[in-house]
Amino acid sequence: MANAVGQARTRALSRSQACVEDDLHDVMAAAVSATLTFMVNGTQHEVRNPDPLMTLNEWLRSQRGLTGTKVMCGEGGCGCCVVMVTHPDPTNGGTLSYTVNSCLCPLCSVGGWTITTVEGLGGQKAGFHPIQRRLADFNGSQCGYCSPGMVVNMYGLLSANPQPSQQEVENHFDGHICRCTGYRPILDAMKSFASDPGSCIDIEDLSKHLCPVNGQVCNGAATNGVNGVHHNDPPLRCSQNGVSWYGPTTLEELYSLLEQHSTGQDRYKLVCGNTAAGVYKTDGPFTCLIDVKTVAELYITQAGPPLVVGSAVSLSILVDLLKTGSDQSPSYSMLAEHLCKVANVSVRNVGSWAGNLMMKHTHPEFPSDVFTIMEAAGAKVTVGTRHVRETVGMMNFLKMGMAGKLILSMEIPAALPSEVFKTYKVMPRSQL
Ligand SMILES: Cc1cc2nc3c(=O)[nH]c(=O)nc-3n(C[C@H](O)[C@H](O)[C@H](O)COP(=O)(O)OP(=O)(O)OC[C@H]3O[C@@H](n4cnc5c(N)ncnc54)[C@H](O)[C@@H]3O)c2cc1C
Ligand code: FES
Ligand code: FES
Repeated sequence: MANAVGQARTRALSRSQACVEDDLHDVMAAAVSATLTFMVNGTQHEVRNPDPLMTLNEWLRSQRGLTGTKVMCGEGGCGCCVVMVTHPDPTNGGTLSYTVNSCLCPLCSVGGWTITTVEGLGGQKAGFHPIQRRLADFNGSQCGYCSPGMVVNMYGLLSANPQPSQQEVENHFDGHICRCTGYRPILDAMKSFASDPGSCIDIEDLSKHLCPVNGQVCNGAATNGVNGVHHNDPPLRCSQNGVSWYGPTTLEELYSLLEQHSTGQDRYKLVCGNTAAGVYKTDGPFTCLIDVKTVAELYITQAGPPLVVGSAVSLSILVDLLKTGSDQSPSYSMLAEHLCKVANVSVRNVGSWAGNLMMKHTHPEFPSDVFTIMEAAGAKVTVGTRHVRETVGMMNFLKMGMAGKLILSMEIPAALPSEVFKTYKVMPRSQL
């Protein structure tokens, strides 16, 4: 269960106490903080020196008693741990809201986030949310273990798209497992919010619900408390049990950390969405975890062709960018369609294309869809250190030593007019 940051706590390398104290001394000296600040269901929380190996799921359940968020596979595969998160958009100062698998989400990465769990949507005392009521009305819950994840997942969809089609609803449940109901009543309940003609929609119900957090009319968006935390808190640096967490905010800081920790005895890991921990659970142990999600430069994108995407861009955002640019190349819509079959919605929301390629790099046997389709598309990745940058094709990327290096971006060319570009995934699937 506790596969925090891809390693069992018991396997953490132990460093001397003096070393940990040095880290904490650095915290005091530099413009960094050992305190993590975030909101859960409208309440601000501060965690002093959080455990770099703890997941958001462990913290919610064991430290806050928010056991509505369940845990089962610990691999990003069943969806019962899904929560909704809202945080500043690193590219434009707006906000981003989406669902994540809390079982894979490191607690240390939620600084400045607003998190909504099923308890934040509604309950017996505060009154149930329309999605919760609808699930019960359609007999979509038996043992109830999967239900909170189903509800929050639907809430995430309606927040992003208040009028989804039935097909969009079905596609959005690609990462949820129910062992009791046979799915039909769950999907019937969720599709009843769809906007297609013929569905038993009553989406206005949403606006009749009063938010249990702020007493306001619910608009389906997770806005409760999003402005309550300081988004420009100093970068996080904390250390426990011989494992340190660093949250650099600039490429310069990131390069310095890489230089510092890629030599000597440290075993470092860059952390983006941390979803690889759901696939390769025995990687590590690591002494040093460096968050790349907090580095704005890694989100830079450039409309194509070639389409250029920074390495912290999630698979979900890459799909959006490819769809937006689909008039520039027929291959872009094909790539987008294929990427929608990679993992599931909540994994794609935080999982980066770069993390996927690094999984292939570290574990050559990994059947990476991203690697295969990007090789077919003739994509190139730019890899760098503070001093050198190199742009290479996918096959040459696999041959590069990556110690101390960073994937910076990928460029995806348009297909030639004479080319027909098609990809397919060999697996049985019920979604389109
Ligand atoms: C349930 C599930 C189903 C999946 N199904 C599929 C599938 O069908 N097809 C498929 O292809 N994949 C699949 N995946 C893999 C998924 O796409 C990856 O887990 C995800 O893309 C990894 O991205 P991340 O940001 O979470 O990486 P992380 O877990 O954060 O990191 C993974 C590795 O990449 C390194 N890294 C991250 N960013 C950088 C960077 N900028 N530079 C250098 N190194 C970096 C890290 O150090 C780490 O070693 C699945 C995963 C899960 C959990
Ligand atoms: S516990 Fe199964 S996806 Fe998180
Ligand atoms: S109702 Fe039991 S797992 Fe879904």
